[in-house]
Amino acid sequence: MGSSIAVLALLLVLGFATGVQSLNPDDPNVCSHWESYAVTVQESYAHPFDQIYYTRCTDILNWFKCTRHRISYKTAYRRGVRTMYRRRSQCCPGYFESGDLCVPLCTEECVHGRCVSPDTCQCEPGWGGLDCSSANTANGTGCESDYWGPHCSNRCQCQNGAKCNPITGACVCTDGYQGWRCEEPCEYGYYGKACQLPCQCLNGATCNHETGECICAPGYTGAFCGERCPSGSHGPQCEQRCPCQNGGTCHHITGDCSCPAGWTGSVCAQPCPLGKYGINCSKDCSCRNGGLCDHITGQCQCAAGFSGRRCQDDCPVGTFGPQCNQRCECQNGAKCHHINGACLCETGFKGPNCQERFCPPGLYGLICDKYCPCNTTNTVSCHPLSGECTCSAGWTGLYCNETCPPGYYGEGCMLPCSCTNGADCHPVTGACICAPGFMGEDCATVCLPGLYGPNCMSTCSCHNHATCSPVDGSCICREGWQGVDCSILCSSGTWGLGCNQTCLCGNGAACDPIDGTCTCSPGWRGEHCHESCPDGTYGLECRERCDCSHADGCDPVSGYCRCYPGWTGIHCDNVCPQGFWGPNCSVSCSCQNGGSCSPEDGTCVCAPGYRGTSCKRICLRLLWATAIVVRSVSTAPGYATGLPGHRQSASSASGSLCNQGSVLCVL
Ligand SMILES: *[C@@H]1O[C@H](CO)[C@@H](O)[C@H](O)[C@H]1NC(C)=O
Ligand SMILES: *[C@@H]1O[C@H](CO)[C@@H](O)[C@H](O)[C@H]1NC(C)=O
Ligand SMILES: *[C@@H]1O[C@H](CO)[C@@H](O)[C@H](O)[C@H]1NC(C)=O
Ligand SMILES: *[C@@H]1O[C@H](CO)[C@@H](O)[C@H](O)[C@H]1NC(C)=O
Ligand SMILES: *[C@@H]1O[C@H](CO)[C@@H](O)[C@H](O)[C@H]1NC(C)=O
Ligand SMILES: *[C@@H]1O[C@H](CO)[C@@H](O)[C@H](O)[C@H]1NC(C)=O
Repeated sequence: MGSSIAVLALLLVLGFATGVQSLNPDDPNVCSHWESYAVTVQESYAHPFDQIYYTRCTDILNWFKCTRHRISYKTAYRRGVRTMYRRRSQCCPGYFESGDLCVPLCTEECVHGRCVSPDTCQCEPGWGGLDCSSANTANGTGCESDYWGPHCSNRCQCQNGAKCNPITGACVCTDGYQGWRCEEPCEYGYYGKACQLPCQCLNGATCNHETGECICAPGYTGAFCGERCPSGSHGPQCEQRCPCQNGGTCHHITGDCSCPAGWTGSVCAQPCPLGKYGINCSKDCSCRNGGLCDHITGQCQCAAGFSGRRCQDDCPVGTFGPQCNQRCECQNGAKCHHINGACLCETGFKGPNCQERFCPPGLYGLICDKYCPCNTTNTVSCHPLSGECTCSAGWTGLYCNETCPPGYYGEGCMLPCSCTNGADCHPVTGACICAPGFMGEDCATVCLPGLYGPNCMSTCSCHNHATCSPVDGSCICREGWQGVDCSILCSSGTWGLGCNQTCLCGNGAACDPIDGTCTCSPGWRGEHCHESCPDGTYGLECRERCDCSHADGCDPVSGYCRCYPGWTGIHCDNVCPQGFWGPNCSVSCSCQNGGSCSPEDGTCVCAPGYRGTSCKRICLRLLWATAIVVRSVSTAPGYATGLPGHRQSASSASGSLCNQGSVLCVL
């Protein structure tokens, strides 16, 4: 198991910020080199560990104790350092940076001249020497080119355009040459000034020894020959056109074609040979029964009469021909040939589609001597040999005289009805025949409110918001109603659903047929009207107040005042008329001799000169004396004593008072 390392993330890049590259790379004095730098990364690796596991062992005593070791691996992460490379520009050897230029460096300063290349001074006229410090020969000027030395008498030996030092004769080579006389081009891999610059060219390219320009090997392009020829070209300078056809790609160097799936030949112009397909035509076709194979995908195109991915199957029953898209027309159970659709008739039938019987209609048997037993109206065919009946849709039974069993329909009664809610279906068409109360194609919809019966055709006749059964239209009455159509109120004394509840209202109260609530008659109250109105009130819901002056309340029903004795009138505010007293002023006074009677209790107040209970007796003048009035207290018949508000009636003490005008006499 190799430790494959996946670099997950660059965490830290070291030394990337050293020096902004301001040097112009086109400057011939600028050189570049590859510099390495370190990058810290998080990397995953397979970390081995010792795994202990239990196993059966051969030693029966240690049955459960045997352990084994094995090395397993899990993914772990660690920090690592990767070395990466980048190009760095700097001044070529012998040059130094001055601003954004690389200028040549002369170790000896040029005294009368200027530094034109490393350690090479170009002297002003009349000056010579390596550092232009010495006056020139003979006539005080420099030698002509190609000469050097005292009196310019030596001929320069430098080649390839090199100049020679007028004093020493040493050659100062032009770019790309080296050697004592500058006779050699740079060594392979170097170029430029003093052949110091390493070539940058890739992929076997050669480098111009003077300029460093890359001359690419066939198949490559780009300034450093780092790129392959663009697609469609190849060879030297990428100038050859690619000959590959059908999407083949050519090798960037040789131009050899590499063909896509399904094609072959030197320029990919030929499809794969029969029976082969795919890349390099290396796969074998698997199409059976004469099926053709696509040279690219290997997909089978089946011959007429066959189907399946590998054309391995005959057409499905009932179909034939190319792509199995023809329908067989064979009748009476005949087989159909899967390729050409020809019908193979069962015995007893003939004709191209086997549609004709051998026997005349209605007869069957080897010599057509028997009568078919099939019900002619419901039969498609009677088998000419066996007499077997083939029923038309919706019919079944040996003789086709029975309809399909419930829940099935169609040819051979094979199709199940798709009706809901107990619906039957038409034996031939399968159309649903809904049960009463349902409608819709599959009878899933209940009748709309107010309709009922088969196909929801009948209108409900229920009254008083009763619910109507969608099935039979029967009414389900609301509370308080009864009768077939719920038009009858509950009979008195009953209420509720089905008028099943008994009213509990007393004292002549009315009872609500719906919820049984009592509406009390005047003078009564309470849930069931068993309480009389409280004192001082009367009437419906005891809402009225009694309006009586001298009375013991009023009648709770009518509000009539119950006057105290001696009082009369609607409000009991009239004293009894003269000559009457007592309750309802209904008693006649019995006082005689002009005596008047008390309206409350009928006590007589005698006229002067008379005395006695009924003022029958005559006063005796002798007995006149100091008047003493004695009034005793007694109760009027029918009234309790001491009750607040009750008046006490006055009566004479033993009838002894005697009124004599302004004089009272006492007997
Ligand atoms: C002196 O100068 C002339 C012209 O610059 C040149 O032709 C000649 O060779 C020089 N040297 C001598 C030794 O005359
Ligand atoms: C196709 O053939 C070439 C040349 O023989 C071979 O390099 C390549 O791997 C082949 N490709 C496949 C998918 O077999
Ligand atoms: C065929 O069947 C139908 C329905 O069962 C019946 O009404 C008719 O009479 C039958 N016909 C004969 C010829 O039996
Ligand atoms: C069907 O026909 C056969 C033969 O005629 C007869 O025996 C049978 O009762 C019939 N069945 C019905 C349901 O009519
Ligand atoms: C009415 O009372 C009878 C007998 O108690 C009962 O069978 C019936 O279900 C009741 N009907 C309703 C609507 O409550
Ligand atoms: C007074 O008259 C009323 C109404 O006519 C009657 O109901 C009541 O009994 C009478 N009272 C007496 C004490 O006769």
